[in-house]
Amino acid sequence: MFVADGIDEPRPIASMPGVYQHTRDSLRAAAAEAVAAGVGGLMLFGVPTEADKDSTGSAGAAPDGVLNTALRDLAAELGDSTVLMADTCLDEFTDHGHCGVLDERGRVDNDATVKCYVELAVAQAASGAHVVSPSGMMDGQVAAIRDGLDAAGHSDVVILAYAAKFASAFYGPFRDAVASTLSGDRRTYQQEPGNSREALREVALDLAEGADIVMVKPAMGYLDVIAATAAVSSVPVAAYQVSGEYAMIAAAAANDWIDGRSAALESLIGIRRAGADIVLSYWAAEAAGWLA
Ligand code: PBG
Repeated sequence: MFVADGIDEPRPIASMPGVYQHTRDSLRAAAAEAVAAGVGGLMLFGVPTEADKDSTGSAGAAPDGVLNTALRDLAAELGDSTVLMADTCLDEFTDHGHCGVLDERGRVDNDATVKCYVELAVAQAASGAHVVSPSGMMDGQVAAIRDGLDAAGHSDVVILAYAAKFASAFYGPFRDAVASTLSGDRRTYQQEPGNSREALREVALDLAEGADIVMVKPAMGYLDVIAATAAVSSVPVAAYQVSGEYAMIAAAAANDWIDGRSAALESLIGIRRAGADIVLSYWAAEAAGWLA
């Protein structure tokens, strides 16, 4: 779910019919509804105002930033009745749109970025996140976040590691959803779609660093990677059915070219069959209702 600063009413995301940028209030209501429908948890992304974006994404860790505020709202509203997860990344908050801070040559600086992720994770845990979800694919991010959380008294907060995250065209609608300013691409830190061995190496590293859940993303084009990860993982495996996967089915359904509900459920079943224990999907609330 997306929560945006500086809007008075929920704003539909054109490329993701049925998905909204929420206000604080509409988020509370939609979250409560999703939990009542039976979702297993909620993953939150924050959308700051343009004015709040800067080169280091400082609005992300700010206690009164849009995401931390929303986490506190939902923690108060929902308590432990669901699993509150936060996206632990800078791209929503940076003015250049990259998932990290840049060095003097404009390259993403891995180690400086990891320090920011630790601050983000600690702020999110303090705001009520049960799970932090580093999605930026920096080397060493899981170990650093684990140490940072433990040192801040959050040893019970879970790390969902985006372990195998590919540089995918299927993230397009998400970038609309968070009003991303990215120009260029993320191929220096996300993975090459043709390389499944590298994916398994990333999974092994995240497990060794203490990941509590490892995630593969996107899902439908990477079912082999989900299966290979499930075969070796000692922790639950998650798969993220991303914005472009949602948009494809939603757009075809809107044209009556396929049956949206059946196609959505079939896609989720395929991801489960491949070996995902947990599925992140923009259909979560609806699918929970369909399956009830
Ligand atoms: C990065 C992030 C992205 C998504 C989730 N976390 C965007 C990206 O890597 O460009 C994409 C999710 C989707 O497409 O649904 N914070």
